[in-house]
Amino acid sequence: MSDAAKRAAGRAGAELVDSGMRLGLGSGSTVEHLLLAIAERKLDVAGVPTSTATAARCRELGIELLEPDEVDRLDLAIDGADELDRQLTATKGGGAALLREKVVANMADRFVLIATEDKLVDRLADTFPLPVEVVPFAVGPVGRELTARGFEVSRRRVAGGEPLVTDNHNAILDVRWPGGLDDPAVTDVAISLIPGVMCCGLFVGFAEQALLGRAVGEVTRVGPST
Ligand code: A5P
Repeated sequence: MSDAAKRAAGRAGAELVDSGMRLGLGSGSTVEHLLLAIAERKLDVAGVPTSTATAARCRELGIELLEPDEVDRLDLAIDGADELDRQLTATKGGGAALLREKVVANMADRFVLIATEDKLVDRLADTFPLPVEVVPFAVGPVGRELTARGFEVSRRRVAGGEPLVTDNHNAILDVRWPGGLDDPAVTDVAISLIPGVMCCGLFVGFAEQALLGRAVGEVTRVGPST
């Protein structure tokens, strides 16, 4: 999807931000446009970043950063998505930031997704894999457990072929369910309960709306009333 669509979604997200807010700042290429728009508007905000990459970008743009233990609640968290459905359940973690993203989403009074319109799907985890963050010690057992339950599992690697290491020093297993998930909420709990799993990339019940950018630069809002 075009950069214009990401830009439209990111800028629409920034319109929800007011001076004085404490923010959750997501990760990824759509969030890049959000951060640029927040910086451009010179809003007096501070935010908890969801990745070392977002923290570094905020420093460059002059956006004040907060540690998660410095703030009780966040007014608003805005983040990208790899896929989402009409119930606003999202898969996240294509950039390997899912664990901090979920912690931050859970700290926020409001959570809004910004994405391109092609990410809206009928069933999650069919085409785009669902990321699962796993402690290194448990990669083998968790992988075998997921395979035994019918998932197609692959360990994420970086360009040189080495296993990817997350900001939290963990591994990522990317899992697919041929045909897509029947019940993402059940899958989220089932995967999260496997010993060694730190985070399942399903975000169920977090988002209040999604702002979906289109190639022509317009935005479609998906929420409870649409
Ligand atoms: C980061 O781990 C992800 O959850 C991103 O939010 C997601 O991959 C969306 O990224 P893009 O905006 O780059 O597509």
